[in-house]
Amino acid sequence: ASRKLLLLPGDGIGPEAMAEVRKIIAYFNADLGLDFELDEGLVGGSAYDAHGKAISEEDMGKALAADAVLFGAVGGPKWDSVAYDVRPEAGLLRLRKDMALFANLRPAICYPALAASSSLKPEVVEGLDILIVRELTGGVYFGEPKEIIDLGNSQKRGIDTQIYDTFEIERIAGVAFELARARGNKVTSMEKRNVMKSGVLWNEVVTATHKARYSDVQLDHMLADAGGMQLVRWPKQFDVIVTDNLFGDMLSDVAAMLTGSLGMLPSASLGAPDAKTGARKALYEPVHGSAPDISGKGIANPIAMIASLAMCLRYSFNLIAEADRLEAAISGVLDDGLRTADIWSQGSTKIGTTEMGDAILGK
Ligand code: NAI
Ligand code: MG
Repeated sequence: ASRKLLLLPGDGIGPEAMAEVRKIIAYFNADLGLDFELDEGLVGGSAYDAHGKAISEEDMGKALAADAVLFGAVGGPKWDSVAYDVRPEAGLLRLRKDMALFANLRPAICYPALAASSSLKPEVVEGLDILIVRELTGGVYFGEPKEIIDLGNSQKRGIDTQIYDTFEIERIAGVAFELARARGNKVTSMEKRNVMKSGVLWNEVVTATHKARYSDVQLDHMLADAGGMQLVRWPKQFDVIVTDNLFGDMLSDVAAMLTGSLGMLPSASLGAPDAKTGARKALYEPVHGSAPDISGKGIANPIAMIASLAMCLRYSFNLIAEADRLEAAISGVLDDGLRTADIWSQGSTKIGTTEMGDAILGK
């Protein structure tokens, strides 16, 4: 059976980075005999220009039918004043919602060649390879009530509600334990059980899930604030971190800065396994946005997008050797001193987007 991939390049540097991914997939098909079947759609501002909404029903249907979706980036000043429900970001939110992507995977990897340019000491980050698993569809960003109430006397009250049910914690913990088995076999769960009831339940359910199904994996618990401190002090102590939507949002941004540029960071969002096939819906995207300040100049770093393809090979298609090879090629090109402008430093060679794609392909 062929492997169905939907490409949604989006806006700004999204299409520039996706062009490099297309070259790599063409190589996989032609030289390695992998039968990726590519389809393409519009999302974000480009979809709004074509259809008046951030993703068309037709493209939404393609996303639901694909084995995996590769997403570039959306947005830009051109669409800053369009209505809330059709703004570019609405396309991504719709994809996450309709594909029921509840697990967000954010690796923080420090390539040896870039350790010296980290904001931390090189020995703290060199060889770092951790994975943050963030719950994406529950918690305080979605819980009801969610409102601002007028109390009179020029006083208002802002309310957000943190809610987690057992099944939500069980399924995100399951993803974390399964990923850990294919890595360093260690999970650290983070919450604030000292001050939050949802944290007490989180801790209980993760512990019970571990005992019932994953006792071969090492499990530690850490309060999320202490976890943030440890992430900056000695991040290499971690393998997989599992945490809720809010803490995961913050901790993954902190972890991102351990490794340098936004242009280097991939991510994956996974849904529940299909009851029949076991396959999960999945969307892979760089962490960065559409970077309007550099778009059209041919200088964007395509590594975050290419590393997102590597995650796709690994998690959606179980092409582990190919994913390893692609990641090694990225590392090798950096070892050779090739850099796009965002990661350039004295003594290295500055190259553009297509040259970076070609160099990775050449490995
Ligand atoms: P951004 O990530 O697009 O850019 C932030 C800074 O990082 C810019 O200086 C940019 O040039 C640089 N940068 C980002 N990716 C890079 C790459 N691959 N290579 C080299 N440099 C890179 O975030 P910003 O500026 O806050 O947002 C720009 C637009 O992107 C906005 O419309 C925003 O709404 C949208 N956005 C979209 C996201 C998505 O599609 N998932 C995520 C974040 C922002
Ligand atoms: Mg964030």
